Amino acid sequence: MKKTICNLEELDAFAGELAKKAAANTCLLLDGDLGAGKTTLTKRILHHLGVQENVASPTFVILNQYETPQLKINHMDAYRLDYNEDIEQFAEQFDGAFNVIEWSKNLNFAFSGFKIIKIQIKMIDDNCREFEVE
Ligand SMILES: Nc1ncnc2c1ncn2[C@@H]1O[C@H](COP(=O)(O)OP(=O)(O)O)[C@@H](O)[C@H]1O
Ligand SMILES: [Mg+2]
Repeated sequence: MKKTICNLEELDAFAGELAKKAAANTCLLLDGDLGAGKTTLTKRILHHLGVQENVASPTFVILNQYETPQLKINHMDAYRLDYNEDIEQFAEQFDGAFNVIEWSKNLNFAFSGFKIIKIQIKMIDDNCREFEVE
């Protein structure tokens, strides 16, 4: 499924749909260039899930963790990791949580036992992004 989104209202509606799929042991894998909109989408999804705190990009800390009454949430950014990196210390957090992972292609991790939703984001122009959901 491909969807082109050119404004924040549409992005928020899309995030709301994705939030309905959030569950324990589910990984949402977000890939696309720097500035594609991975963090922006994640912020809207976590808002829909009831996360009240400010959601910041985990580019430097790699992993941020949130908790709602229903769900444990991990927000990971693998931008600064590479495929050869040992990610055991992060992966052990994934069990039982809803995991949103930016730059998932940098992770050498099988994701077996997890439900996977994969989204590739392409920049069309300043305002428009194409979201391809697998
Ligand atoms: N349709 C859109 N969807 C998502 N972000 C958009 C869109 N149009 C413009 N943007 C902007 O693109 C930038 C995306 O940045 P960010 O979410 O940090 O990207 P990434 O995490 O993929 O590097 C933000 O400044 C955001 O406001
Ligand atoms: Mg980001």
